[in-house]
Amino acid sequence: MSRLVVVSNRVDLPPGDTAPGGLAISLAATIRHTNSLWIGWSGQVGALSDVPRRHNQNGIEYAVVELSIDDYQHYYLGFCNRVLWPLSHGQLPAPDAEGGAWYRAYRRVNFRMANQIKGSLKHDDVLWVHDYHLLPLGHFLRQAGCRNPIGHFLHVPFPALADGPVSRELLGNLLAYDLLGFQTPNDLAAFEAVARRHWGEHAVTPAGVANGQGGLTATGVFPLGVDIDYLRRTASATMREAALRWWSVGQPGQRVIGADRLDISKALPQRLRAYRQLLTNWPARPRPNYLQFITPSRLALDAHRELQESIRREADLSNSSSDLRCVFAAVPHDELMGILASADVGLVTPRADGMNLLAKEFLAVQPEEDPGVLVLSRGAGAAVELEAAILVPADDQNSQAEGLRLALEMPLTERRSRHQSLLRALRRNELPRWQQRFVGRLLQARRPGLAIRPGGGLCDADLA
Ligand code: F6P
Repeated sequence: MSRLVVVSNRVDLPPGDTAPGGLAISLAATIRHTNSLWIGWSGQVGALSDVPRRHNQNGIEYAVVELSIDDYQHYYLGFCNRVLWPLSHGQLPAPDAEGGAWYRAYRRVNFRMANQIKGSLKHDDVLWVHDYHLLPLGHFLRQAGCRNPIGHFLHVPFPALADGPVSRELLGNLLAYDLLGFQTPNDLAAFEAVARRHWGEHAVTPAGVANGQGGLTATGVFPLGVDIDYLRRTASATMREAALRWWSVGQPGQRVIGADRLDISKALPQRLRAYRQLLTNWPARPRPNYLQFITPSRLALDAHRELQESIRREADLSNSSSDLRCVFAAVPHDELMGILASADVGLVTPRADGMNLLAKEFLAVQPEEDPGVLVLSRGAGAAVELEAAILVPADDQNSQAEGLRLALEMPLTERRSRHQSLLRALRRNELPRWQQRFVGRLLQARRPGLAIRPGGGLCDADLA
């Protein structure tokens, strides 16, 4: 059986005590039962090495590399998080005051990683590259002589790349992949629109994008999901203790939960204002208890430190008149599932988000006989599948407050019927299927230079 080689910028190296984010959590869960190797950045700054450090734990093999301080500043904080991240989430990119140093570092890190990976590959490995940090990795792997199937999955919305040489180069590099996967039809459409602009109408077909060498880079939508049964088992193991620890015991009032990474795209100040507005508009007693976790993230960025301050100010304003608890800390994922299960309303209101797994996790762990209600913004990729949630705009605090009121007052019969319909949506794209669908499609994708059987599908000899 071929080995699956997963490559992502951040690797959730055991014990996984940091807050790895949705991508790392999903990957850890999806490759648990697969013959796989997971390669990426350890999260540490250190000495560069051509050979990744190897670990083997819980049936997963890991290979991690460090970034130099310069890479960290220019590649990670610079091009990844000050250019590509804002472009993917409806914000303007920051200007690179060092005249292209960020982009040069981005290419350098991708180039180096391709060569580090190449040394670890077997001839029949299948490569699955993740996210915006590694857009040109496939191109550099091909340059390094890699002939294995390589797919790329983008976890965030497709970046709004302006016309210019950098965009042209990045888009061209994407065509080195056999398959490009997106979270939602909207993200695929955004990529196709850019591809048409660059290469003309004829280049884009329903099967993929012509790569200019007589071949095709296949495209598809593969919404990331959750492992419902696993999350339920986890939640039932942690719920009792989590509820005792985090909700005020004996205090009346429904429980509202939010849990987000500190990020502009999550629209957290707006959410806190909407909550305050709810309390003004809706003087019902007892007041709801709102528990909001915020995982500190990318604090080396000024924008993130400023955001943290503005959230603190909003939380202080709300605190004087309500039962809001804003916790700036990462909660272990197991414990968080217990907290979600014991809440009545899940508040997930990002301005833009590739998927937002918290929305799906909240629904997965809710008790079916007495389920809570999800208030979800249309900016989350999950909203495409979760139409039976209460959908609100992220930037309109009046509508958000109204959505929250509807959720808090919703009768049991309606809560049950919405939850059943949402669970069906969740089941259609469960986590184990995500990997099967993506890798299955990748193996069928055509690749120039590799002999493809007439019906599609690569054979071992082609990969030798
Ligand atoms: O896809 C977005 C993502 O990679 C998610 O895993 C997570 O939300 C976040 O970005 C993690 O960011 P970082 O690795 O910069 O902490």
